[in-house]
Amino acid sequence: MPSRPRRTRVRRATPAAVQEAAEVLRRGGLVAFPTETVYGLGARAFDAAAARRIYRAKGRPSDNPLIVHVDGTEMLARVVRRTTPLARRLMAAFWPGPLTLVLERSALVPDAVTGGRATVAVRCPAHAAARALIRALGEPIAAPSANLSGRPSPTTAAHVLRDLNGRVALILDGGPCRRGLESAIIDARGRRPVLLRPGTLTPAAIARAAGASIAAPGRRAPAAPGTRHRHYAPSCRVELVLPAQIRRGDVAGLSARATGLLHRTPWSGPDPAFRRRVAGGLDAYARALFAALRDAEKERVRVLFVETVADRGVGRAVMDRLRRAATR
Ligand code: TXA
Ligand code: MG
Repeated sequence: MPSRPRRTRVRRATPAAVQEAAEVLRRGGLVAFPTETVYGLGARAFDAAAARRIYRAKGRPSDNPLIVHVDGTEMLARVVRRTTPLARRLMAAFWPGPLTLVLERSALVPDAVTGGRATVAVRCPAHAAARALIRALGEPIAAPSANLSGRPSPTTAAHVLRDLNGRVALILDGGPCRRGLESAIIDARGRRPVLLRPGTLTPAAIARAAGASIAAPGRRAPAAPGTRHRHYAPSCRVELVLPAQIRRGDVAGLSARATGLLHRTPWSGPDPAFRRRVAGGLDAYARALFAALRDAEKERVRVLFVETVADRGVGRAVMDRLRRAATR
C-alpha cells in the first residue's frame, strides 16, 4: 500500500461510497469522513502501520495521539480495559455526540495510536456517515481532524481536499459539519471529569450529567498533548479584538488592504478586504469559525481581526481555538 496515493477522490457519502471507503480502510488505507464536529482522517485503529500513515499524511508529531471512533459501547469494550461509573454516566448522556473520553487502553490498541500511553481517547460520533463507515468496517477507526498539522480543522470536504490532496485515497463528502469545533475531551478515569479540551458541549452540561464538578487538568493529567501548541492557524496572522472595539468602529490596523474582520457585533467602520459577520448565537459562531479562517486565507488576507466572545459555555471552546490561532 503506497503511503501517498497520487490521486484523491471525493465522493458523496452514499451507502455505496461508504462501502468503498470501508474497503480502503480494510486494506490499510486512509479515508477522510464527516462527523458532526469536524472531518476526520481515518485508518483502522487496530493496525499500527495504518495508524502511522495518518501521522505521515498530516505531518503530525508522533507524540500527539489519535482519537478512536466506535459505533457504541460494545465496540468500546475492545478499545478500553475497563470503563468507570463516570464514563458510563457521560456516555449515557452524550453518546453518540461530540464527547471524547480518555480511559485505560486495551491490549488491542497499538502504541502508534496512543503515542505509547496507557490511555486511549474514544468517541462515538453522531454523524450518520461516520457511524455507517464504522459499522461497515466492523472495527474502530482511529482519526484525528483531517487537516495538515497546525492548520484549522476542516468543516467541509473542500477543506480536506485543500490540505490533503494526494495524501488520502478517498474523501467522503457529507456536507458542512453541524458543530464546527472538535469534541470536548474528558479524562474519565477518576471520580470527577477532567476537562482536557473544551468543546461545544458546555462544561456545565458535562458536570450536570457527571453528577460532579469539573476538575482542571493537574500535573497527573496533563492537557491533551495536541492542545499545547500553536494550532488551528491559517497562513494569515490572527489578532483578537473585543466586541466594544467593533461597536466603536475602532480596530487599529484594519484597512482596505490585505486585512480582514470576522465578527458578530454590527460594524460600521471602513470595509477591509475580507469581512464576515456571523449573526446568531455562539453555536453559529463556533460553526463558522474554521471556515472563516480558511476563507480569509484564500482572499490573501495578511492580518485577520477576530471578535472575541465571553469565555464560558460554548464560548470557552471558541476562545480556546481563537487563542491558539492567534499565538505566534
Ligand atoms: O471532534 C473531534 O474530536 C475530531 C473528530 C474527527 O472526531 N477529532 C479531532 O482529533 O479533533 P484531533 O486532531 O484533535 O486529535 C486528537 C486529540 C489531540 O489533542 C490529542 O492530543 C488528544 O486528542 N488525545 C488523544 N489521545 C489522548 C490521550 N490518551 N490522552 C489525552 N489526550 C489525547
Ligand atoms: Mg486536530
